[in-house]
Amino acid sequence: MPSAPLPPPRDLATPYRVCLVCLGNFCRSPMAEVVLRDDLAKAGLDGAVVVDSVGTGDWHVGGPMSAGSQAALARRGHDGSAHRARQLKPSWLAQRDLLLAMDKANLATLRRLARPEDAMRIRLFTEVAGGDGDIPDPYGGGAADFDHVLDLLSAATPVIVERLGRLLDPPGAGR
Ligand code: 4NP
Repeated sequence: MPSAPLPPPRDLATPYRVCLVCLGNFCRSPMAEVVLRDDLAKAGLDGAVVVDSVGTGDWHVGGPMSAGSQAALARRGHDGSAHRARQLKPSWLAQRDLLLAMDKANLATLRRLARPEDAMRIRLFTEVAGGDGDIPDPYGGGAADFDHVLDLLSAATPVIVERLGRLLDPPGAGR
């Protein structure tokens, strides 16, 4: 089934806000944030889109992303050292243009917390890139598990960047 259009910007005067969401904001969503931000910068969209990430749980709040995530990112030339974990506040659901859940459990959590009018802004990360699978949780796993997560994220982000580019700079918009 073709993926639904991306939700429109809430405010055309400010950058489009994308939030990546996982359970701990410790492994997957921080990696996705770094990869998406780097790919947006490569596409010249870093001023047009702002990316952040959160967890639905509170275990790692204030701390860095997992060592496994940082190492996997570093092996591919990304820098994950600046991350500090945060737990989702339900009010943030009304402040982002698009929330991308790493798996279907987090998708369900977000949908439960959201106002009805924000439900269309909550999507599964892989679905927006044309798939339908979960990004598996590598927590407690080895380097191969983190590399696999990065493979899945890095395959999806170019599609997401391309879709964001088309959403924010449609043909004929004159920007
Ligand atoms: P994440 O992985 O959702 O990809 O950040 C997890 C990190 C921590 C825990 C679970 C999953 N935890 O239970 O602490």
